[in-house]
Amino acid sequence: MVQNILITGAGGYIGGNVLNDLSARKDGAFKDVKIIASVRQAAQVDQFTKLGFNAVQLDATDTRAVEDVVLKHEIDIVIHTAGGIEQTQVVNLIHALGARQKSLGEASKTYFIHAGVVTLFTPENGWPYGRATDADTDIFEKLKKLDDQHPIRITALKILEEGQKHNVQTLNIGIPLVYGTGTGPGRKISVNIPAMIRASKDARQVFKFETDARPPVAHIQDLSDLYVLLIEKILQGETPPQGEQGYYFAVAHQFSYWDLLSGLAKSLHQLGLVDDETVKTWPSWEAGADALGFPRAFIKGIAGSEGEMIAVKPFQLGWKPKWDEKRFLESIDEEIAAAEKFDTGKTSIFEVLVPSKA
Ligand SMILES: NC(=O)c1ccc[n+]([C@@H]2O[C@H](COP(=O)([O-])OP(=O)(O)OC[C@H]3O[C@@H](n4cnc5c(N)ncnc54)[C@H](OP(=O)(O)O)[C@@H]3O)[C@@H](O)[C@H]2O)c1
Repeated sequence: MVQNILITGAGGYIGGNVLNDLSARKDGAFKDVKIIASVRQAAQVDQFTKLGFNAVQLDATDTRAVEDVVLKHEIDIVIHTAGGIEQTQVVNLIHALGARQKSLGEASKTYFIHAGVVTLFTPENGWPYGRATDADTDIFEKLKKLDDQHPIRITALKILEEGQKHNVQTLNIGIPLVYGTGTGPGRKISVNIPAMIRASKDARQVFKFETDARPPVAHIQDLSDLYVLLIEKILQGETPPQGEQGYYFAVAHQFSYWDLLSGLAKSLHQLGLVDDETVKTWPSWEAGADALGFPRAFIKGIAGSEGEMIAVKPFQLGWKPKWDEKRFLESIDEEIAAAEKFDTGKTSIFEVLVPSKA
């Protein structure tokens, strides 16, 4: 019977919000569940413990430490938000869950729920097949046929392979661009929009890329709701599609980058943080990548991709996102206020990609 959940990256934006929401649920299937937050720093363990969370210090790249934590705390579900790209972490976690699965036998299942990246399914990230839905039964077959070295694709395939090898149920949440202020105890804001605000303030000018794009997006609370829904189904004894059928696109809506940047220019100018309301064009993708602090090699995939990524399975589970494009565009002042309050200029999510100026 599934009881214990480990959340990696609980000090981060997504992991922290999910930690908060799951911990708040004491009803029904959640009654006897123990949630353990994994963080990297000893000081975070103290901070989280004082707030009433169970916290462990863990570097997910440490094979022995990961296995120790999973076995000691009898973890049945890992919600992995500490790294969408790095293979060592996912291999360690699935391997450890495999050891736990062996001790449980066939009566109970173990789950690895990965925070993936939905824009893997865009032309800018090498997806040549056009429209993709998470209900496509051949999605992994198509990924396998792509003989490129895209790190997100390689990690997605590794998760599938390791899950099958170790008898662990693997689910891959295709995460879009996430916005909004998170409720977790650690990081409160995302990466993309705060980086645009920071770069605009630095240059005292808002810039856009030469082409507009309508990326798939979700508000942090809608994304967190999807996680809670999925966990609730598992705790209730349902076995959601997994493995080759385990993609879940957490796409609530899209928005236009150029609309966002026009709105940012107006609001930042009113606040005196840029010199005028115009939006200029970056001289090149590389210049924009450097100013935003994003890896040059992936800048078109990060800031210029749209494509058609259709969420089907989340809605079948009963997901009801509360945010849409209109509500998002009306919340630009909140995005700026959150960036002003919480932006530290730091994120680890691009750590394993090539350095920005390489
Ligand atoms: N936010 C988005 O818009 C977005 C979009 C698509 C996909 N995703 C994916 O969603 C995941 C979470 O994103 P996020 O925005 O929540 O990122 P985040 O705020 O940077 O959180 C990531 C957390 O993981 C921790 N971490 C990094 N390496 C670790 C390791 N080796 N062992 C243990 N913990 C480690 C970080 O710890 P420190 O605090 O010590 O650095 C951080 O707390 C990532 O995999 C990302 O690729 C996010």
